[in-house]
Amino acid sequence: MIVGVPRESYPGERRVALVPAVLPTLAKAGLEVVLEAGAGAEAGYPDAEYVAKGAKILADRAELFRTADVITQVLCYGANDRTGKADLPLFRRDQILIGFLRPLGSVETITDIAGKGVTAFSVELMPRSTRAQSMDALSSMSTIAGYKAVLIAADALPKMFPMLTTAAGTITPARVLIIGCGVAGLQAIATARRLGAVVSAYDVRPAVKEQVHSLGARFVELPIEAKDAQDARGYARAQDEEFYRKQRELLGKVVAESDVVITTAVVPGKKSPVLVTKEMVAGMAPGSVIVDLASERGGNCELTKAGEKIAVNGVTIIGWFNLASTVPYHASQMYARNLTAFLVHLVKDGKLQLNTADEIIRDTLLTQSGEIVNARLREVFQLPALATQGSA
Ligand SMILES: NC(=O)c1ccc[n+]([C@@H]2O[C@H](COP(=O)([O-])OP(=O)(O)OC[C@H]3O[C@@H](n4cnc5c(N)ncnc54)[C@H](O)[C@@H]3O)[C@@H](O)[C@H]2O)c1
Repeated sequence: MIVGVPRESYPGERRVALVPAVLPTLAKAGLEVVLEAGAGAEAGYPDAEYVAKGAKILADRAELFRTADVITQVLCYGANDRTGKADLPLFRRDQILIGFLRPLGSVETITDIAGKGVTAFSVELMPRSTRAQSMDALSSMSTIAGYKAVLIAADALPKMFPMLTTAAGTITPARVLIIGCGVAGLQAIATARRLGAVVSAYDVRPAVKEQVHSLGARFVELPIEAKDAQDARGYARAQDEEFYRKQRELLGKVVAESDVVITTAVVPGKKSPVLVTKEMVAGMAPGSVIVDLASERGGNCELTKAGEKIAVNGVTIIGWFNLASTVPYHASQMYARNLTAFLVHLVKDGKLQLNTADEIIRDTLLTQSGEIVNARLREVFQLPALATQGSA
């Protein structure tokens, strides 16, 4: 089977789906790689390194789509809502597509992909199980986003992070608050701690308290309890507006005392809850920084402008998204390893094994033979259940 790696087309995207180091593993599984010329260049992987590991380079994107049995991308149409649609005419029936597809985004996009007869797998739907851990691209990218959010905040803050005792006096450490302690939040805690900040963290899921403590941060206890805070997959459940109102009221004091607030609170398929209001921003000291990692899904701060850095009363609010793309070398390396583990799982003796009794395949399979076949998605989009579909 031939695996194609097109050049990413989302504006500013610097990652690539596969890196040269994974090619020998793919070859062992019977998978050859063709790369669109220059696809790895921005991530630090020149064409020559792919060729040295046995890949073919094609200059023409359309030819790459014609040649490949499997297309691997970072941001496919769906996740790439800017330029992704241009790839639609290039797909062939029964071609396999693997990447970020933003499955809970819009039913029209997924219907478009299904309409091409593509067998599409969405990495966002990877189960959060021990078996699937090596294939979990969402965790890989969140790890990078959490790390980078802290660097961005440190750069924007007019203070240093660590405590220093110098001949010119003592410098007090920066106070950092992390709201939302999933993969990105925990990495943000660890990174801020390494830079010497005093870190507090809060999450609706009480289960994370121990993890927060083990990273050397204080867990902010609020005297409110979320109803069924965590679903069976480990994700946060949406709460009612009264809960969010109380949460904002109680968080206000901690936010006002922080130099940096990094928010990562998202609920799958839902608009992100507003946890930092404009009144709370007004209560922060000038020079403080908010980095809102939920910006693309509405933002956790009421004033966040998605994709922008703004200043309100001296408080810097950063709503940049797609941060993993700003660390393209390691983001691509991690993503390539996740995809390779998935490909090796999917292909036996050079042939695709579509065993939908397998949870990893069933949960990630989005479209096949012209239909949206994913049970969870059909439920979310209120489509009638398919007679033959597995339960996701
Ligand atoms: N292989 C594995 O077992 C595996 C891998 C990765 C993640 N996980 C688990 O999956 C879960 C989700 O992780 P994620 O990084 O995808 O999270 P996420 O990106 O969906 O959400 C980020 C965090 O925001 C929190 N949040 C949501 N609403 C909030 C609110 N109103 N106030 C405060 N916090 C709020 C969530 O609880 C979550 O911790 C976690 O339990 C994580 O440990 C498991």
